[in-house]
Amino acid sequence: MTNLHKFFPCSAAALLPALALLHVATAGAMDMNPQEPTDFETPLLRPSNTGGALGIFRPAAPFTLATRSQAVPLLDGAATDLLVYETVDPRGSLIDPVLVVRKRQQVTATLENDLDNGENTNIHWHGLSLDGHNDGGPFAVAAPGENYEYAYKVRNRGGTYWYHPHAMGSTAEQAYRGLASFYIVKDRMNDRLSEQLGLQLGKTDIPVVIQDKRFDMDNQLVYEPSDDDMMMGVLGNVVLANLTAKPLLNVKTRIYRFRLLNGSNARIYKLAFVKEDVHLPFSIIGTDGGLLAQPQGATEVFLAPGERVDVLLDLTAAAAGDDIFLKSLEFDPMDNEMGGEHGMGAMSMDMEESMPNGAELYIMRLRVRTARPYNRTIPAQLSKVSPIDTTGAFVREFTLAQGEDGMSMEMRWLINGANFNDAPAFVPFQVDRGAVEIWEITNEMASMPHPMHLHGFQFQVLERMWMHAPEMSPWEGLTDEMGLVATDKGWKDTVLLWPGETVRIAIDFSQPFSGIQDYVFHCHNLEHEEGGMMLNYQVK
Ligand code: C2O
Ligand code: CU
Ligand code: CU
Repeated sequence: MTNLHKFFPCSAAALLPALALLHVATAGAMDMNPQEPTDFETPLLRPSNTGGALGIFRPAAPFTLATRSQAVPLLDGAATDLLVYETVDPRGSLIDPVLVVRKRQQVTATLENDLDNGENTNIHWHGLSLDGHNDGGPFAVAAPGENYEYAYKVRNRGGTYWYHPHAMGSTAEQAYRGLASFYIVKDRMNDRLSEQLGLQLGKTDIPVVIQDKRFDMDNQLVYEPSDDDMMMGVLGNVVLANLTAKPLLNVKTRIYRFRLLNGSNARIYKLAFVKEDVHLPFSIIGTDGGLLAQPQGATEVFLAPGERVDVLLDLTAAAAGDDIFLKSLEFDPMDNEMGGEHGMGAMSMDMEESMPNGAELYIMRLRVRTARPYNRTIPAQLSKVSPIDTTGAFVREFTLAQGEDGMSMEMRWLINGANFNDAPAFVPFQVDRGAVEIWEITNEMASMPHPMHLHGFQFQVLERMWMHAPEMSPWEGLTDEMGLVATDKGWKDTVLLWPGETVRIAIDFSQPFSGIQDYVFHCHNLEHEEGGMMLNYQVK
């Protein structure tokens, strides 16, 4: 077991040699095969008010987030060198703090680039509706040793957002190496739900970020994407939930809220809570942009990189001693026509080959410890989601396809035939502030899944259209009469498209800013984004 849940940088430094000696015989990553439901013993790192890694930070005044490297004990044996955001307050050092703010609050933050690898970095507040300067796009960066100032008012609905770097050329690797955490916005609707169900952040309302990573024999992260990895995305051989490998969470017989974030570079999860092969029912209550109008019953939900889903799991009827796993169920990732052989990562060929995208995985174990009376029920109405009025909306079309890029003559992922890296200053289109548009995004038949993410605005999914035979759809059994899945029913900033799928989304480009604002639209498979599957756009 690691001591991550008690982790503070200064004390950890002193502890590490001792830990290394204690566990000298264990080969960290090799014991952590997520395809086996064994060894789920390490307490899940939970955001807490005591600080430390993923400590809850409620910024009341201007604050600093410094990016730097930090050795963190993730596996048995040697600590892993990560890149982290750090803020310091009277409780000490908070690593990748979980930021908790209220809607309409002013946030003033200084990013201090203390990375020692010579790279630019920044903070992209994923999902927040900000102006171009504060959005933290590919060029709004701090050079090494420099700062970037953010100051904005939170305009978003209460919900589960996140933050991560977005500097041109280093987003994927910096996020992979640890720069990412939650950004939770509170509002009256969320307050009411917490009161109704007696939820407490970090205890019964638990943010969980799921990330797969590759470790070498010395417990260090491997990030050496091959050409195939750049095409397919980097997949790991260890799955971490809140930086915990094979985590265990003790639970009571009551309702829990899990705020699930896929913070992986490329892996898609088909999430289910499973007790001895039975898929437990749960309620989807929130998506990227906050609470749904009504809870949606589910037994499975897809979560692609960048997406969040908030769920309520009712364990009232569970019995002490029950073991429940949060799993990713097996699915066909529809990427086998791409010619990329999975697992070309030199360090971990064998493990990798057994863990393609779509492999069955165990993520987190819930062990029911105490049966106690609990008589609250999930409210029928959670919030209001007013449909965007699309009357007369301009329709803009996008095609996602693989193609030879004109400059390098290499195969790349392209949006409307363009690759960002060829012409990073090229702005293919502008949108009028206040306009409503429908974006019709088509993922070609011979493609792979692409979670498409929009900066600056939350959107609504109107329709999904499917070109393959119906039974090929990974959505099968999950859609309603409109072809929409439960997570399409709330506000979204990231939407998953399978090959052969067209998705229509509605975007209201209203915002209180003036002048030209720069944003991007990109795939959140971070290797795809890094490989240039991204477009600039401006609001004017
Ligand atoms: Cu979370 Cu532009 O990304
Ligand atoms: Cu974003
Ligand atoms: Cu993609």
